[in-house]
Amino acid sequence: MNEGFKKYKAFQPIYLPDRTWPNQRITQAPIWCSVDLRDGNQALVNPMNLEQKLLFFRMLTKIGFREIEVGFPASSETEYEILRALIEEGEIPEGVTIQVLVQAREHLIRKTFEAIRGAKNVIVHFYNSTSTLQRKVVFEASMEEIVAIAVEGARLIRQLTEEERKKYGTNIRYEYSPESFSGTEMENAVLICDRVLEELGATPKEQVILNLPNTVELATPNVYADQVEYFCRHLRYRDSALISLHPHNDRGTATAATELGLMAGAARVEGTLFGNGERTGNADLMNLAMNLYSQGIDPKLDFSNMNHIRRVYEESTQIKVSPRHPYAGELVFTAFSGSHQDAINKGVRYMAKHPSPYWEVPYLPIDPADLGRQYEPIIRINSQSGKGGAAFVMQQTFGYTLPKAMHGEFGALVKKACDAAGRELSAAEVFDIFKKEYLTVSSPYHLLTYKIFAKDEGSGEVTVDFEGSVRYDHCTRQISGKGNGPIDAFFHALNTLGLTQYQFVSYSEHAVSSGADSKAVSYIQLRRGQETVFGVGIDSNISIASIKGIICAINRKEGQKQKAI
Ligand code: KIV
Ligand code: ZN
Repeated sequence: MNEGFKKYKAFQPIYLPDRTWPNQRITQAPIWCSVDLRDGNQALVNPMNLEQKLLFFRMLTKIGFREIEVGFPASSETEYEILRALIEEGEIPEGVTIQVLVQAREHLIRKTFEAIRGAKNVIVHFYNSTSTLQRKVVFEASMEEIVAIAVEGARLIRQLTEEERKKYGTNIRYEYSPESFSGTEMENAVLICDRVLEELGATPKEQVILNLPNTVELATPNVYADQVEYFCRHLRYRDSALISLHPHNDRGTATAATELGLMAGAARVEGTLFGNGERTGNADLMNLAMNLYSQGIDPKLDFSNMNHIRRVYEESTQIKVSPRHPYAGELVFTAFSGSHQDAINKGVRYMAKHPSPYWEVPYLPIDPADLGRQYEPIIRINSQSGKGGAAFVMQQTFGYTLPKAMHGEFGALVKKACDAAGRELSAAEVFDIFKKEYLTVSSPYHLLTYKIFAKDEGSGEVTVDFEGSVRYDHCTRQISGKGNGPIDAFFHALNTLGLTQYQFVSYSEHAVSSGADSKAVSYIQLRRGQETVFGVGIDSNISIASIKGIICAINRKEGQKQKAI
């Protein structure tokens, strides 16, 4: 047996039996801060160049981000130059605040203030690690020494800010992160943050952002929420702080950790699109925003052009979004299973019949159209698809509403084609099957000419005459019949050909647009002995469409008989 697990210790949660966060609900969007261009970018094999960062930055502002961490300008010349370009080329729109990250170290802080010169609104985000483990194995420093680093950093930042404000009128706000907050003793996290708030002169009017990184996700999301609640409750200058979350995704639960952290008192979230970031990534802001959206809450971010956003992301990061990625993946609005397809089909029909302001389609938590996606790929046809799936594609993609009784017959034809192909079929292939089976069958009976006229018999009774010619067995035959309607008259005319074994079962029709004009499509179900068969007819005249539907059904049955012979 692999005993490797024995080298790991379970994370010790804090004691918070009177936690209140489980009873809270998220009722509004938090303040979002994108860290794509810093945390996301530093985790790329090939970090973005100026052009790519600009493109991404513009996209983020279009989505609606008002706070964007654009880099770590003191970390490299490239980062510095990119920030200068953003400022000097007037790329930062009105109302957007750029955020810059810096370690709490003097020369880096000074360089950062040089880098932001000329910007209008800036958040200076400084950090040092407070982690229990790092204090032991990396810094070999006491907590007092760690607090001193943060406090000295805060002092210098405040001094440089005041100078900058005076000289250039820059609107500078402060953010401090006790890096690895969740891996720090909570009393130490509270202690260092209170000292930083004091040093920065934070007030309820001029709050400092305290960002609580789950730098490495070490425990279940509820444990992070307990830490956030504990922190908020014990912070001496709580009113002077805006609590921000910065979850990473090592356990794959960053979305949950963020949501529970918001319930525990945070008002701001840092993360990235699609969760790009160090190791397993950061919290996915798109996922979080769309989760709010699906609960009827305005996320204040716009993902209605999801395909475009995904494309820019993939090109800039060289990372592919998984086909199963919530809301954005290629397959997330696709149902392969027959029962899911049927339920979606029914849900869409229900919505069309019962106008309601709410989305009520099973298996689709949100309307794909809200993300700029289409219904067409919702249902894909493979051998596991049910009869409803093929009918759904015919309706949604091509506008043919097959009667319910026909779903089984057509579904079986599609399933057979799927099995033969050994793969999924596209919507166009489904239509091809329909065309081949129902729209292009013209043998053994080929209707050459047809005429229908109604006659008033005098007593208010109207009779219909059918006259036409049919090509059958290399001969042309004239046929005629009289009835109480076009279908009845045509049936009588068919007796001329000796086709007496077919009985009419059902009929339905609707308009279908073909090019510029609209035509009628009729679906005819006939019985022969114990078996039923469907035929489809299309014509600008609704009566002729029915007659074509009857001949189609007969041809399909007779064709099968001939094949069997
Ligand atoms: O994950 C982290 O701790 C960070 C900090 C620098 C905020 O990215
Ligand atoms: Zn991070």
